[in-house]
Amino acid sequence: MSKIQVYPSLLSVDFAHLSKQVKLLEEAGADGLHLDIMDGHFVPNLSFGPAVTEAVNRSTDLFLDVHLMMYNPYDYIERFAAAGANLISFHFEATEDVEDTLKYIKSCGCKALLAFNPKTSLELMPRFIDLCDGFLFMTVEPGFAGQKFQKSVLKKISFIHELVVKAKKKDFILQVDGGIDPTTAKECLKAGANILVSGSYLFSEKSFQIGLKKLKG
Ligand code: DX5
Ligand code: ZN
Repeated sequence: MSKIQVYPSLLSVDFAHLSKQVKLLEEAGADGLHLDIMDGHFVPNLSFGPAVTEAVNRSTDLFLDVHLMMYNPYDYIERFAAAGANLISFHFEATEDVEDTLKYIKSCGCKALLAFNPKTSLELMPRFIDLCDGFLFMTVEPGFAGQKFQKSVLKKISFIHELVVKAKKKDFILQVDGGIDPTTAKECLKAGANILVSGSYLFSEKSFQIGLKKLKG
């Protein structure tokens, strides 16, 4: 993947105006939308599920990236795929069925990403490169918007990026999520990330257009 992409996180949206804000993000040039699904167990927070995902899908033609922060992700894949997900990520830390879950996501016609918490060991990552479409590097602990970017993740991104380049996997996705603003975006892109997720920063800018432009640098 050569082009840098930015996916706004809908966790920061005004849910009273969901459809309208989704349209504004589309018009401003968002490359996709990031939907954070939280179960209150894997992370200490709740968000929304397939019904809201389906409502977002009806409001836009944008690519939908569903980030599952939940235990037993396998059990919900079919429902999110039916609701319009184009990409589904789930956490390495949340299941023992990583391989089966990746395969199942692909069999539902979605891209499959494996997500890693900031403190998860780098050693466990390389063996999954051939099994998925990319990795999601959490740059904050999953569960809440508005947290501080964890710089220590940058060296993991660089390490994996090198392996991906050596393996000539040019479309491999290296997505970053958490505390992304124009400064941290630049650091992530330098380390090899190609998809930036941004919530708090983007929704605090004067306009989505300005925010998206600044994130792409
Ligand atoms: C955190 C979520 C993120 C979050 C990003 O658990 O996965 O997608 O909404 O929000 P900011 O950009 O505010 O860190
Ligand atoms: Zn997320």
